[in-house]
Amino acid sequence: MFNNLKFKKMQEQTKILHSIPVDELTGAISTPIYQTSTFVQQAPGVHKGFDYARSNNPTRKVLEDLIATLENGSNGYAFASGLSAIDAVVKLLKSGDEIVAVDDIYGGAFRLFTHIYEKFGIKVTYVDTTNADNVADAITSKTKLIWIESPTNPTLKISDIATIAKIAKANNCLLCVDNTFASPASQKPIDLGADIVIHSATKYLAGHSDLIAGLVVTKTTELGEQIKFIQNASGAILAPLDSWLAIRGIETLSLRVRQHSENAQAIAEFLLTQDIVKNVYYPGLAGHHNHHIAKQQQKYFGGIISFDLKIDDKEFATHIVSSTKYFKLAESLGGVKSLICLPCEMTHKSIPAEIRYKSGVTDSLIRLSVGLEDVEDLIEDLKTALNKLKSKLAFTA
Ligand SMILES: Cc1ncc(COP(=O)(O)O)c(C=O)c1O
Repeated sequence: MFNNLKFKKMQEQTKILHSIPVDELTGAISTPIYQTSTFVQQAPGVHKGFDYARSNNPTRKVLEDLIATLENGSNGYAFASGLSAIDAVVKLLKSGDEIVAVDDIYGGAFRLFTHIYEKFGIKVTYVDTTNADNVADAITSKTKLIWIESPTNPTLKISDIATIAKIAKANNCLLCVDNTFASPASQKPIDLGADIVIHSATKYLAGHSDLIAGLVVTKTTELGEQIKFIQNASGAILAPLDSWLAIRGIETLSLRVRQHSENAQAIAEFLLTQDIVKNVYYPGLAGHHNHHIAKQQQKYFGGIISFDLKIDDKEFATHIVSSTKYFKLAESLGGVKSLICLPCEMTHKSIPAEIRYKSGVTDSLIRLSVGLEDVEDLIEDLKTALNKLKSKLAFTA
């Protein structure tokens, strides 16, 4: 059922479409959904590679092989959510081990590290990984894992993956990159030296805001076998229907990411012209700190933009996020429809304010997930929302 073609010379979109095998049994061009819990065996222990669907499922296997191919890794594994993918990677560690993590980390990962794993004796040190020296300085003899996102959620910080990978190697640590924001259509952390890549496939990979899923890709089969053991032992696997939806979403990944990025670049440039806006965070802007690194390691700059206001007021930001028509107020990102959110009250509420402020997540920071609507309409939508706030400010002044 699975093909082993080598895709080195193929362009990304061709590679995606032709990494999804035609079903050998029936010729179905769309991967069949194997909605089964178990598989009949010819004799005890004699079967076709599938015995029980927590351990393995043919639909999930197509997705797992697909993501391994797209990330240029050896093995891929699909989980019930991005967080359960993160959880599986942390389970490679043992009590007493330490993690060095990016300070602007996704709030759910911070909550998992702090409220679940610290009580099992795993310590996490958060540093600004945009300067690789900070990573080297934070490593101790107990550090076993370096955890970065690039770009980060939500302030779009860029870290130099290749340099941090060298630091990890020199210190016998694993480097795990959360590649959710860039997606493999844009960035390949394993090619840059990372050992593990994780995804919230809920976002760009699936791409249609219609499922929750997580993926882990390893550079080596040895690491892959450890993740496979954890996946089966802990059991947070992705269901066949959701695996199929993720495959279906990935089919258009490159096309979507290209258009998301084109739209986002135009919107980021528009936001720069707005007098009530203080900072615009988008790696595609020449003024972005580490724009030059983003240019080196990403093919596209992505569809996420964050910005905050000159008057750092949660109420004013709330006014904007409640006034847009096409940008729907919701958590999550990476889908075809545009979303807007206020991280301090939504995605990043679990991070204490002092830590949040340090990583740039101010009270007025607004995150946009730029969708695939026509960009003129999206700009008009934001313009109207910003103007409504301006009129309110003029009225109350
Ligand atoms: C960068 C990043 N990593 C991981 C996750 C967690 O993924 P999930 O919501 O699929 O569990 C998210 C969710 O927003 C995220 O933004």
